[in-house]
Amino acid sequence: MQDRNYAPLLDEGEKLSRDALAALQLRRLQWSLRHAFENSAHYRDAFKAAGVHPDDLTSLSDLANFPFTAKDDLRQAYPFDFFCVPMDRVQRIHASSGTTGKPTVVGYTKKDIETWASVVARSIRAAGGRPGMKVHIAYGYGLFTGGLGAHYGAEQLGCTVIPMSGGQTEKQVQLIEDFKPDIIMVTPSYMLAILDEFTRQGLDPRASSLKIGIFGAEPWTEAMRKEIEDAFAIDAVDIYGLSEVMGPGVANECVETKDGITIWEDHFYPEIIDPATGMVLPEGELGELVFTSLTKEAMPIIRYRTRDLTRLLPGTARTMRRMEKISARSDDMLIIRGVNVFPTQFEEQILKIDALSPHYILEVTRPDRMDLVKVIVEHRDGVNSDALKEAQQSLQHHIKTMIGISTAIDIVAPGDVDRSTGKAQRIKDLR
Ligand code: DLL
Repeated sequence: MQDRNYAPLLDEGEKLSRDALAALQLRRLQWSLRHAFENSAHYRDAFKAAGVHPDDLTSLSDLANFPFTAKDDLRQAYPFDFFCVPMDRVQRIHASSGTTGKPTVVGYTKKDIETWASVVARSIRAAGGRPGMKVHIAYGYGLFTGGLGAHYGAEQLGCTVIPMSGGQTEKQVQLIEDFKPDIIMVTPSYMLAILDEFTRQGLDPRASSLKIGIFGAEPWTEAMRKEIEDAFAIDAVDIYGLSEVMGPGVANECVETKDGITIWEDHFYPEIIDPATGMVLPEGELGELVFTSLTKEAMPIIRYRTRDLTRLLPGTARTMRRMEKISARSDDMLIIRGVNVFPTQFEEQILKIDALSPHYILEVTRPDRMDLVKVIVEHRDGVNSDALKEAQQSLQHHIKTMIGISTAIDIVAPGDVDRSTGKAQRIKDLR
């Protein structure tokens, strides 16, 4: 951690004991189930089909008897059929584009927007942010929840907001230099593009005003955290969220421990399930993360299958539970000759090698009916050809021994891998 004073500053919800929290969760969960059942045809039908009624929930573990909600259910309800309040109470709409088909639409009442801002404000505080600090927001504004979600939270905390949005990398750097923000909120992959731009302009990123980075919206590794923290002399923490459940600020890492993401359990109830059987797994086991909203009005969400893989852990910096850094989305899983692999596993191996940069993409092809992964990765500046050769052999070896698959490695010049201005696309599947 950078040498700064991060004495925690807690709100009422964060001060609850485990017992008080559980009692609050039960009350809110009962309300949420009833609200969904009474105001949504989808939930009414789904509960009936599963033979359950909101009155059946008398303890938190009873939630396991209720049906899951999947992304496809939301798609089929396009655009507004999941809303549980009349349209004139919906104050805001967001949508996530996805790669195919119609977007997933989400709605918020005035109170939902306030709740969302409060969990984002709490997230920024957990990251070490305080009222009066300047926050540079480089998550995209628009239908994506990142920009506006961060924005309202930073304002509610009492920060000065710089609503830069994503893109225009040269200008990002200019504003960081001139406006001197304390905090930046951006995807970790786009932070790397901003880092490149600092170097291109001959500026020292460690001399910038930034103290804290709040990074999320995509999986990233501990190795990437170290890379960014060292480059900018900042504390980098993880923020998690998804549109269907709220947006950014469902969970956030506490800067004083940096040991996983604290889930704001007074608003979002987590479960981990076995993705194959749907059975709830005990705390500590790896599985698919499922969320139920506890306070959302416009679009309560019951047992939403996030497809994110992680495990639940007991609280440390807070009484609320943590989840392990999200290692992967099940959607991003590649099955290469029978071995299940995720992009972050490659990232970890790449960043062990000094000559290689964190800019990479995985290209998957199927010549002769055999899956082949090519790791296309940039080398760092000023690396000679001997070091490149060694880097190539060593990466191939590390991937083979640690991940268990043979790969082709293509080391390219700095700048040759496309930069993202939002979420990075790590897989190019040409099969
Ligand atoms: O990405 C919300 C967000 C914005 C979170 C800004 C954090 C910061 P969606 O576009 O709906 O919403 O995408 C949600 O992104 O299910 C995860 O797969 C992934 N994701 C989000 N945060 C993290 C994270 C926003 N910290 C999907 N680590 C989620 C890993 C993350 N993956």
